[in-house]
Amino acid sequence: TTPPPADLKNVQGDIIVGFSKRTESSIFFQIDNAEGFRKQLPLLVPKITTAAQAADDKDAIKKHKRAGHKDLLKISGLNIAFSQSGLNKLGVTDDIGDAAFKQGQLANAQGLGDKGSTIGGKFEPNWIPAFKNAVHGVIVISGDCQSTVDERLADAARILKLSAHNGNCHEVLRLDGSARPGDEKGHEHFGFLDGISNPAIEKIDTKPFPGQKTIRQGIVLLGRNGDPTKRPSWALDGSFLAFRYLFQLVPEFDDFLMHNSIPGLTPKEGAEFLGARMVGRWKSGAPLDLAPLKDDPELGRDPQRNNNFQYSFPEDIQTQDRCPFAAHVRKTNPRFDLEGLNPPISTESRHIVRRGIPFGPELSRQEKQQKTTLQGRGLLFKCYQSDITKGFQFIQEAWANAPNFPPFKPADQVPGFDPIVGQAADPTSRTMSGADPKAATTNLQLPTEWVVSKGGEYFFSPSIPTLKSAFGR
Ligand code: HEM
Repeated sequence: TTPPPADLKNVQGDIIVGFSKRTESSIFFQIDNAEGFRKQLPLLVPKITTAAQAADDKDAIKKHKRAGHKDLLKISGLNIAFSQSGLNKLGVTDDIGDAAFKQGQLANAQGLGDKGSTIGGKFEPNWIPAFKNAVHGVIVISGDCQSTVDERLADAARILKLSAHNGNCHEVLRLDGSARPGDEKGHEHFGFLDGISNPAIEKIDTKPFPGQKTIRQGIVLLGRNGDPTKRPSWALDGSFLAFRYLFQLVPEFDDFLMHNSIPGLTPKEGAEFLGARMVGRWKSGAPLDLAPLKDDPELGRDPQRNNNFQYSFPEDIQTQDRCPFAAHVRKTNPRFDLEGLNPPISTESRHIVRRGIPFGPELSRQEKQQKTTLQGRGLLFKCYQSDITKGFQFIQEAWANAPNFPPFKPADQVPGFDPIVGQAADPTSRTMSGADPKAATTNLQLPTEWVVSKGGEYFFSPSIPTLKSAFGR
């Protein structure tokens, strides 16, 4: 029998609705006193933002803007999630049914392609120490500004007894993200508009934008329609959160684009074009599949049109005229490259809901002059799915890092690596074809990496009833 749809009041808000945010902090913690923590957890529940509340917040912001207000509405969201080691610490040892989650991200670092060194036969990724030690959980708090976030954190810390001394748990790392300023709002640090394409969720996002794919609830929520795995009853309406701490080498990226500028245009235009070919969208968000030769900012900002493409033009299947096979958005959501095959290969179970936010300062004049990163910046990448092994892990390993993906392309045009996030075991093999549409068989050699992983963890974000009952114990 098909499970009924989820009740929005039972699901944490960042999973299926998403927080409205200018700023967001992730507070990673270790549990010291499991019994005390379990006792306090139900008291945190009234402070947790449900999907129903997140949806109300979105409506309130729309109304506020429509009424012509220029100031930001004071709005914030709070969610909590636990790693496998955190669940173990709490005595929750049922098998939840996801191999990647169970093993944790540290054990997966080499598989994901993260750089590191092998010492005494053991792989050590180049991660920050916090993620090389146990992280039991994360509190995610978003808001219109930092003081709203801090207020909300103080409240949660008091309830959970989050404290460096004699508490139930203590903070091991705090990462603060914020939207970029001015016209760059909504753009990630390489300059491209982000957060355009997320799947619509059945019976929740009932008015999808043209081209937006609707997926069953069970692709994101455990135990709902579309989740084929047997789960413990407390896992219903939870979701897995894959968190990645990704640094971006922005001046180095810009410098590469200038040096490899696509010929036949001014150097600046050729550099812009190469960047767009790597991402699969122009900085404005306009997709190459609809705007293959020239940026179209109006298309970029129009949600009725900017996701309405499938790589389904006749020339898309076997040529890179419109969009390179390896472009970031094509690698991570290949659309008709799989679904247009005969017979079609479904991509439904590969969909993730992305909720990241940039971190770090804008480029300084010195960084621009020296073409070198001097201050850390990047993306606090977050995505939700009902199965990390089929979702994030699969996209990174079997698509972004796999030079022959998407399949069945001309033999002289091996797609290559996702130039933004694809990682190659042998950096000299990190190439892509089709960077220049007029020389599609030429392989462009890419630097080892522009997106540098410094760690992360896999978490489980439980339902509200499960938090209320402290995992039914
Ligand atoms: C889309 C940038 C990491 C998966 C996008 C877009 C940009 C972007 C600019 C286009 C906007 C949109 O369609 O919403 C970046 C940057 C990253 C990063 C700068 C690292 C710093 C990742 C990672 C994954 C990923 C690690 C998964 C392994 C996706 C997916 C889409 C996307 C699934 C939507 C594709 C579509 O539906 O057309 N990204 N991304 N991204 N990215 Fe990333």
